Amino acid sequence: MEDPASTANQADFAQASSALAYPRPPEVAEFAQALIHTRQTVLPRRLGEPGPGALELQTILKAAAAAPDHHRLMPWRFVLVPAVARARLGEAFASALAERDPSASAEQIAQAREKAERAPLLMLAIVRGRDEDGEIPPAERLVSAGCAIQNMLLMAHALGYGAALTSGKAMNSTPLRALFNLGENEQALCFVSVGTTIKTKPIPLRPDIGRYVSELTI
Ligand SMILES: Cc1cc2nc3c(=O)[nH]c(=O)nc-3n(C[C@H](O)[C@H](O)[C@H](O)COP(=O)(O)O)c2cc1C
Repeated sequence: MEDPASTANQADFAQASSALAYPRPPEVAEFAQALIHTRQTVLPRRLGEPGPGALELQTILKAAAAAPDHHRLMPWRFVLVPAVARARLGEAFASALAERDPSASAEQIAQAREKAERAPLLMLAIVRGRDEDGEIPPAERLVSAGCAIQNMLLMAHALGYGAALTSGKAMNSTPLRALFNLGENEQALCFVSVGTTIKTKPIPLRPDIGRYVSELTI
């Protein structure tokens, strides 16, 4: 029997390749440029309802699977935090703060707890730094995870949503690691938040190419 996942992949591929047939019209590059350069971080406190619907969520999550992935290890995973689990995540944030700062005030603890309630769609990005494939080092796995995350950010942006990556001191805490059941080779990278942009800010100035590109001199 044909694997339904592979049939779905073929359908995605057929759709994508017909949209990008050769010769590729200049609008394709213009569109990609517009999409990439108009994406900006919209922090979770500026993300409101509605979040992505069920089909849109699938489209966003599927974008991760198109990331470059050496040896197809899939060294990353994402855990969605639905509304019913937000209070539990808030507890983990609060415990993490109390653990690292026993003098934290009740107000600070409440603020830490409240962070779990922001943004309609919230997920944790996790990378697996090591496993039985010793050929692929942690740095490559991290790059793959970053590509998967950026694919999702761009897809969320294409669908009209704002999105952000956030981390913080709780990321490597015992309560958070326990809540997400992280394996000993796994690391929580960041939260990905998606929702409707409540308030926009100007797109930040991006660095000139000359600041991050040089030519090898011999
Ligand atoms: C892994 C990661 C974690 C981040 N965590 C936070 C965070 O906790 N709080 C925050 O304000 N910005 C955080 N940032 C920065 C923002 O996500 C964003 O990159 C930055 O504000 C620049 O905005 P831009 O995407 O519009 O260029 C993080 C970025 C990355 C890559």
